[in-house]
Amino acid sequence: MKFGTKAIHAGQEADPSTGAVMTPIFQTSTYKQSIPGDFKGYEYSRTGNPTRNALEQNLAALENGKFGLCFGSGLAAIDAIIKLLKPGDEVISTNDLYGGTYRIFNSIFEPYGIKFHFVGMDDTKKIESLVNENTKMLWAETPTNPMLNIIDIEKLSKISSENNLIFVVDNTFATPYLQRPLDLGADIVMHSLTKYMGGHSDVVMGAAICKDEKLAERLFHVQNSCGAVPGPQDSFLVLRGIKTLHLRMQRHCENGKVIANFLKDHPKVGDVYWPGFETHPNHEIAKKQMDDFGGMISFNLKGNKLEDAIKLVSNTHFFTLAESLGGVESLIGHPASMTHAAIPKGEREKTGVVDTLIRLSVGVEDIDDLLNDLENTLDLL
Ligand SMILES: Cc1ncc(COP(=O)(O)O)c(C=O)c1O
Repeated sequence: MKFGTKAIHAGQEADPSTGAVMTPIFQTSTYKQSIPGDFKGYEYSRTGNPTRNALEQNLAALENGKFGLCFGSGLAAIDAIIKLLKPGDEVISTNDLYGGTYRIFNSIFEPYGIKFHFVGMDDTKKIESLVNENTKMLWAETPTNPMLNIIDIEKLSKISSENNLIFVVDNTFATPYLQRPLDLGADIVMHSLTKYMGGHSDVVMGAAICKDEKLAERLFHVQNSCGAVPGPQDSFLVLRGIKTLHLRMQRHCENGKVIANFLKDHPKVGDVYWPGFETHPNHEIAKKQMDDFGGMISFNLKGNKLEDAIKLVSNTHFFTLAESLGGVESLIGHPASMTHAAIPKGEREKTGVVDTLIRLSVGVEDIDDLLNDLENTLDLL
């Protein structure tokens, strides 16, 4: 099956008992056994639920993996993956990372004795110099949030396999429509399904996908033992969202390209961060490992006046000021006062998160309305 066909059909068959074309929402916690231990594949819904399992199989197919596991949020998926480790183990992670991932690593798992090293992943020598006998995992997020840096997945997978590490890629920003890390040598792909995969800003969920059966068994053990599983209603919503993933992503990419170029030429806009520009420092890697460049764009304003940024993000009409990304509707965010507020100004500015950095999640609305919205709001400055 090609991608669009998988998005609609993988893991889903008409319900054998009724013929229902859409996967039913199996709103049940438990399943009848005729004699103890004799059941039809399902015994308890933390362990397995047919709606969730359809989604898990669909995700495995989209990522060219074999096993998919769903969790109650993206962070619950990260939590389960780190629980593959034990005290004393070390993780080398990208330093340009979603703030919540940084928080769970630092404030939850460091106290349990797992050590995290945060590095710029362009620098493979630095990564190699940090690898020691305790290093067990390499963690990358690409494109990164909010600076849209691109990390070379193939290059890192070489370091990972040479050193017997588990290589995890957070594929939330790209989705399997644009990038399939397992094909490039990653061991686990992780998602916040809350974003593009669900696609309608109506559900919070996460996933881990892998090819290796032993790794899948270990993840399943954590999923079942710790129990951070999503319910069947939410699983249904994500399954339904994924049916249009390829169509939505196509439009996100088209609209993203137009908006990125509009911003680049606007006299009040300073730097524009979007991996589709030939001038983007990682454009060649993006071209190699992604099929298109996505609808996430960050930019700053000339003069770098905080009040300009606040005025802009508070006055757009179709770009809603809100956390999150990846829904059909366009969102606008101000990292310095929202997602990155906890990071000291000096620190955040080193990575480009200046006072006027603005992040757009370009939706699938009509492009003329989105352009007019930005143009009219920039005119207010
Ligand atoms: C790249 C990335 N990874 C992980 C997460 C965490 O996912 P969730 O909010 O579903 O727990 C997010 C959320 O914004 C994210 O942007």
